[in-house]
Amino acid sequence: HVEDGVRVFALTAREGRTSFVPQGDTPTLGYDGSYLGPTLVAARGEQVRVDVTNDLPDTTTVHWHGMHLPAAMDGGPHTPIAAGALWQPTWTVDQPAATLWYHPHLHGRTREQVDAGLAGMFLVRDDEEAALALPRDYGIDDFPLIVQDRSFNADGSFAGGLGMQFDGVLGDTILVNGTAAPYLDVTTGKVRLRLLNGSSARMYDFTFADGREFDLIGTDGGLLEAPVAATDIPLSPGERAEIVVSLAPGERIALRSAAPDPALHAGSAEFDVLELRAAASLAASPDVPAHLADVPAPDAANAVTERTFVMSGHNINDTQMDLGRADVVATVDTSEVWTVRNDNPLPHSFHVHDMQYRILSIDGSPPPARLAGYKDTIALEGDREYRLLVRFDDYADPTTPYMYHCHLLWHEDQGMMGQFLVV
Ligand code: C2O
Ligand code: CU
Ligand code: CU
Repeated sequence: HVEDGVRVFALTAREGRTSFVPQGDTPTLGYDGSYLGPTLVAARGEQVRVDVTNDLPDTTTVHWHGMHLPAAMDGGPHTPIAAGALWQPTWTVDQPAATLWYHPHLHGRTREQVDAGLAGMFLVRDDEEAALALPRDYGIDDFPLIVQDRSFNADGSFAGGLGMQFDGVLGDTILVNGTAAPYLDVTTGKVRLRLLNGSSARMYDFTFADGREFDLIGTDGGLLEAPVAATDIPLSPGERAEIVVSLAPGERIALRSAAPDPALHAGSAEFDVLELRAAASLAASPDVPAHLADVPAPDAANAVTERTFVMSGHNINDTQMDLGRADVVATVDTSEVWTVRNDNPLPHSFHVHDMQYRILSIDGSPPPARLAGYKDTIALEGDREYRLLVRFDDYADPTTPYMYHCHLLWHEDQGMMGQFLVV
């Protein structure tokens, strides 16, 4: 609801039980319900406030992944919410229409709380996106898909999965929005799927069973300049993609995950994610516009500093995360070039809070079109170097840092994370 011009959301983190498989249920955590949380929707320019009540018997935090906002509102490990407490972050939404999400960020325990079910989507709307002929009726032709992998014991309780690998724990059962073996009834000729890799370790390469082409229209931070015709879209944990796909009346088609490039994932396989079931007659959908958004080319000319981040083992630049140390002190209203190198043959990823960055180059070459837009999380293939243009737009705060880290949550929890202050 709106209170004195402020859009107010309420989220209560609580314990529950959820049945994912017919054999029985399992203890879970959720916001409001027993697993995951509601989709929050706000418009650019709106002031929002989220009243977060912690009904867990445990400390938590809520981080707004992808959101540009003051560090004290960011929900990282510096803003714990004690059991029974209320936290009321507030900020003005000031970024393009995008598919963002929220999840806990408790120091050393993010994976545990996210895997138990604490996650939800946060959609930003704006006038430019609203004026485009794109599917945008939530739940009609525009669907959020939170994709996670889990494993179950014979009694339906969560199991440890395929065991600890380099990346973390992989599950053998795919959940979409908390549902196993899911399907989606489609009533329009085109649907927009907002894909979120909400898994803690697994990399996906989303594709359709018949290899059909779809339009990639948006990435982490918003719409691309123009739709990119694609037959697959890889997403590492925390990344999002918006795609538009066409269906024929009456057809059933599986959204799958193809086995990703082994360079990106050791223990992955091919599996179905979601079956789309088209009705016998479908409402017509307009063509995807040829121009989606103005996405100016990144310009590193005014970058004030270059820094290098070497991802290796379970730390960055040979340093473990320390809540008391600022690894980077950046100046407000400046840009920097960050060179991020994965020194392992196996994958890591790189997420930066507060901003959407741009990829300048990968091993010296311009990024592919699917990585040319606004990003806050990217997969880092083994032994490659990524040059990023990061920008600290506003919100100076000399005491509360933001985070950057590997979004494989096991690595993050192990200390593969650093802190930056914007002053
Ligand atoms: Cu989605 Cu620092 O996290
Ligand atoms: Cu984040
Ligand atoms: Cu990692």
